[in-house]
Amino acid sequence: MVKIAASILAADFSDLYEAVRKVEKAADSLHFDIMDGHFVPNITFGPDIVRSLRDKVGLPFEAHLMVDNPQEWIVPFARAGCDLITVHIETSYHLDRLITLIKKEGVKAGVALNPSTSLGQLEHILSRVDLVLPMTVNPGFGAQEFLSWVLPKIRTLREIAREKGLSLEIEVDGGINQATAKEAATSGATVLVAGTAVFNVNDPKEAVFELKRSCGSLFSREKEGVVQWRQRLD
Ligand code: DX5
Ligand code: ZN
Repeated sequence: MVKIAASILAADFSDLYEAVRKVEKAADSLHFDIMDGHFVPNITFGPDIVRSLRDKVGLPFEAHLMVDNPQEWIVPFARAGCDLITVHIETSYHLDRLITLIKKEGVKAGVALNPSTSLGQLEHILSRVDLVLPMTVNPGFGAQEFLSWVLPKIRTLREIAREKGLSLEIEVDGGINQATAKEAATSGATVLVAGTAVFNVNDPKEAVFELKRSCGSLFSREKEGVVQWRQRLD
């Protein structure tokens, strides 16, 4: 069953908590895209935004660090309330040190790959991480076109995880909508990050359910706010 991480990059920043409330009962986590204007040509927000939402929102928080010096931001985002911190393999010579630092904070560790970055560099670190995030857009902005040429990389990653017996989350990030969600899920994604497809629509909660349904997950509403999911028996 595919999970949805709602990326607040596409939310209405002028009323952020209200935007998050609309997806809280449908999304599986909240995805914070942290950008420093160096690793990517955009600047977003810092740990204080995470902290401001932490006690109000009952979802797991994940920080996607698109920053040049992730070693300086792991502790601040962990202590602001993140449950998962994902660093880009392209931003460090010492990835194992970063993973150790994240785990020392008691949060889950993810590693992200830009579209053109090969899986090879993960070989000796794969068993140490909880999640791999293959980007399906070049990082820095929401509302970009899904890069379908990344799909073979996702399929290969799923095969490697299976061969090694790793219970790895594969979180596909960028350009996810109803059409691309199914492609990403059938290629091996266990989590889909969605920003524009969720926040730039009239009913964000329904948009999350639509994305899950488009990946073949049915749901029956047990009672208000409680939703049981069952996989469609194809
Ligand atoms: C891009 C970010 C993505 C982005 C997803 O650098 O990492 O998480 O916000 O936004 P959409 O779903 O609009 O592509
Ligand atoms: Zn992201």
